[in-house]
Amino acid sequence: MAAGKGTRMKSRLPKVLHRLAGRALVQHVVDAARALQARKAVVITGHGATEVEAALAMNTGAAAEFGLNFALDFVRQEPQLGTGHAVQQAVPALADDGIVVVLSGDVPLTRVETLQALVAACGGTTLALLTIDFADPTGYGRIVRTDAAQGAVQAIVEHKDASEVQRAIREVYSGIMAVPAQQLKGWLARLDNHNVQGEYYLTDVVKLAVSDGVPVVAHKISDPVQVAGVNSPVQLAELERAYQRQGALVLMEQGVRLADPARLDVRGALSCAQDVSIDVNCIFEGRVELGEGVQIGANCVIANARIAAGAVIHPFTHIDGEKAGVTVGEGALVGPFARLRPGAVLGAQVHIGNFVEVKNSTLAAGAKANHLAYLGDATVGERVNFGAGSITANYDGSNKHRTVIEADVHVGSNCVLVAPVTLGAGGTVGGGSTITKSTEPGALSVARGKQSSLANWSRPAKIPKA
Ligand code: UD1
Ligand code: CA
Repeated sequence: MAAGKGTRMKSRLPKVLHRLAGRALVQHVVDAARALQARKAVVITGHGATEVEAALAMNTGAAAEFGLNFALDFVRQEPQLGTGHAVQQAVPALADDGIVVVLSGDVPLTRVETLQALVAACGGTTLALLTIDFADPTGYGRIVRTDAAQGAVQAIVEHKDASEVQRAIREVYSGIMAVPAQQLKGWLARLDNHNVQGEYYLTDVVKLAVSDGVPVVAHKISDPVQVAGVNSPVQLAELERAYQRQGALVLMEQGVRLADPARLDVRGALSCAQDVSIDVNCIFEGRVELGEGVQIGANCVIANARIAAGAVIHPFTHIDGEKAGVTVGEGALVGPFARLRPGAVLGAQVHIGNFVEVKNSTLAAGAKANHLAYLGDATVGERVNFGAGSITANYDGSNKHRTVIEADVHVGSNCVLVAPVTLGAGGTVGGGSTITKSTEPGALSVARGKQSSLANWSRPAKIPKA
């Protein structure tokens, strides 16, 4: 269900498209359905339907990646007449023989194991409700049993419809159920809106199941994070923290040394080999792999990158591989204040220092660019030293061209290498040169104005003020 408005987000963006850990809320829910090996997820949209559908459709392709048979379907609910009415819209998209798991697009952190247990409790014959005890159950549907504590579930009564006695019940419905599809369809057809809110309540299927003699079970969990919905920016931030804390604990259990688990954000998949350490305020996005003994300094943002064993990423480094990825070789040193962009491939023991940008370039083992440099569309050989302030001029205003710097070349400071150009192995380029022609191996190339000096020259004298 993802048709609701989400007024309290006070945002133009539909609520379910707000991001938690870098993924839309509803994407978490669809991914949970996929992890549950559902054959199909039917997303019920309404407010912002086109935006929600477009955002989710963009990610359906990813299912093939998992080798799963998973379909994504959309149905529209307009207007929104309640959760029962919402699920009624999905009926034509549901097969008769399956189990339907009803999820909310704004409840992102339900664990797959919890849903598996709920599906098992349903077993194709039982209506299984995910429930939880709340100290303050205000606003939630209450689980009404034959006798207060342990009896069979009789009904869910919405807060607004509940009597004082029912409002004292602390066991609430989470909004998540697993139900045999065929029975669900029959019950949905019998819902009415005779209640305080004048809505079609999905929760009324419980009464109908009871009157049909279909068993109803409550599968109670104790972790509120798994059933927490997002209605406001405050709740979104709280759930983000809960998610990040859990992820940080998992990493530390694997042996990763986090300087402070409260100052780490993983918005994607981070995998770490043994003896990785991560200082404070680092953000990891997309797919990031850290090899054995990798050290990440404070305040780094790293996305879509593979960093090999023993590499050290110094503070304030920004790495974003986007689609092409970034690779950092074994024992390489990067930063502080370095920027690695898509297609940067650094070999073993490469050094990239402060204010150096590398894009779509390969640096062979031992190459160094330690200060204030740009390497774009370049192939850099082993042990090359690329001087401070030097750049590859890879773009002529229309097209990009490659620069090839062969092994053991020394490029002095403040040089411009105008691509396409090749610097032969072992050559040297004098500081301040603009190189437009390829150079021979072993040659010294200098391309700058010749120095001239005027002996005993005096600076102009200061003109007295009038
Ligand atoms: C619902 C349950 C309540 C439960 C609570 C848990 C009903 C009648 N009540 O409450 O027992 O304790 O969830 O959070 O089901 N939605 C639609 N179309 C609609 C109405 C809602 O798609 O017409 C979606 C919302 O966007 C949301 C989800 O359904 O994702 C739940 O709606 P919400 O209004 O939050 O639930 P309540 O009715 O308050
Ligand atoms: Ca509501």
